[in-house]
Amino acid sequence: MRYLSLSSLILLFLLFSCKKDDHPRQGPDHEGNGQGQEPPVNTPGAPNLPATLYDYVNTVNNMPPYMKAFLAGRTDLDNTPTGNPITNAGATLGRVLFYDKNMSVNNTRSCGSCHHQDKAFTDGLAHSPGFDNQLTRRNAMMVVNQRFFGAKTMFWDMRAANLETQTTMPILDHIEMGMPSLAALETKLSGIAYYKPLFKAAFGDEIVTAPRISLALSQFIRSIVSFQSKYDQGLASNLGNLSADEKNGLRLLQVNFCTECHSDLATSQYGQLPSFLIADNTGLNTGIGSNNGLEADYTDKGIGEITHKPADQGTFKIPSLRNVALTAPYMHDGRFATLEAVMEHYNHGIKGNPNLGIQLGAVAGSGVPLTTKDKSDIIAFLKTLTDEQLISDPKYADPFK
Ligand code: HEC
Ligand code: HEC
Repeated sequence: MRYLSLSSLILLFLLFSCKKDDHPRQGPDHEGNGQGQEPPVNTPGAPNLPATLYDYVNTVNNMPPYMKAFLAGRTDLDNTPTGNPITNAGATLGRVLFYDKNMSVNNTRSCGSCHHQDKAFTDGLAHSPGFDNQLTRRNAMMVVNQRFFGAKTMFWDMRAANLETQTTMPILDHIEMGMPSLAALETKLSGIAYYKPLFKAAFGDEIVTAPRISLALSQFIRSIVSFQSKYDQGLASNLGNLSADEKNGLRLLQVNFCTECHSDLATSQYGQLPSFLIADNTGLNTGIGSNNGLEADYTDKGIGEITHKPADQGTFKIPSLRNVALTAPYMHDGRFATLEAVMEHYNHGIKGNPNLGIQLGAVAGSGVPLTTKDKSDIIAFLKTLTDEQLISDPKYADPFK
């Protein structure tokens, strides 16, 4: 072709001139920007919501029969309060609130800024930039299966008693979202038109209140359950769908007592099928230790900062291993970039300290004996806990995109 026709030139020109405005932003996105460079935007576009509400009420029904039966025997684990059952309208409002940057003082951060669906609601960072780009002290946690943490507490140091209390804490946090008060948030959201029908559908009238914000966010979060992994799919066939290496990885988690902390106790032994729900060992030290030996003397005292008890110094909420392949970097401070590095820690990095879990205490200093093949088999197994359905489900996605 020796020359371009006039029409193709015009087409090219149009293509290039459209390019920069292809994806108009809903609001300023401060990732990587300096402090306060962009003015707050008070009226971002309304969220895109489906004409027929997504089904949030029945998300738990997608569980494999094995998990249903397990949870039927552990009703203590479902922390849904009688006063706040999930409704489709309530969780829909919760989804909008979760992703709305108007929830932060300068309209730069939503819950979703640090909790990304494609990373099982973590963000890939050791510490996350808040509304003015100061970093959080700890690693952003998964917001998955929160419904099944029993009457247990939220956050690495377990300082929030339940989800209803937890959900408003990031909004007021002076690093995360920085709203001066919940009253200020009520006033702000009351002035945003798209909230009126959403509050009305969820609560019967348009009035925006802080308790309603917390209830709706909690409903949305409780609807985010993850039981569709390859592992879950194999539960019906005694893991007939797993490779020999993957099955060996599970065996190693059991014979090395990893499952005693990272799953429930009743199904943690070799030959059983663990739930991989944090059910019995939550991170609270019940007299047998509960940390995993990251430090001889922890700088961050974790739960101990809240309880001030010697037994809780350097202990942390035990993270679930479900979807762990998506949630790097690892530990409360994101110190390990990869699962390989985590395996090295358990293999020969464990430090003795008074609150080290006995499962690991027996081998303090020497570490959990694992060969190179053992480590790669454990990682192969951990990858079977990834739930592709969870990370692509439109009902959990950002409605402002
Ligand atoms: C700036 C980043 C950031 C923002 C914004 C943010 N979070 Fe988080 N989230 C974190 C970090 C960091 C932690 C761990 C904090 C800790 O343990 O001290 C966390 C922990 C949590 C937990 C505890 C999970 C568990 O297993 O205990 C929940 C639930 C949660 N966030 C929900 C939310 C909600 C709801 C919002 C919005 C109202 C929100 N987050 C906004 C970073 C963020
Ligand atoms: C005594 C209880 C205990 C035992 C036993 C235990 N862990 Fe952990 N594990 C923890 C705690 C607590 C954390 C979080 C520690 C922190 O952040 O300070 C953790 C973190 C992890 C993480 C990172 C998860 C994340 O999201 O950051 C992985 C992966 C892991 N453990 C795998 C294992 C494996 C594999 C074994 C067996 C070799 C094992 N664990 C044994 C308590 C335990």
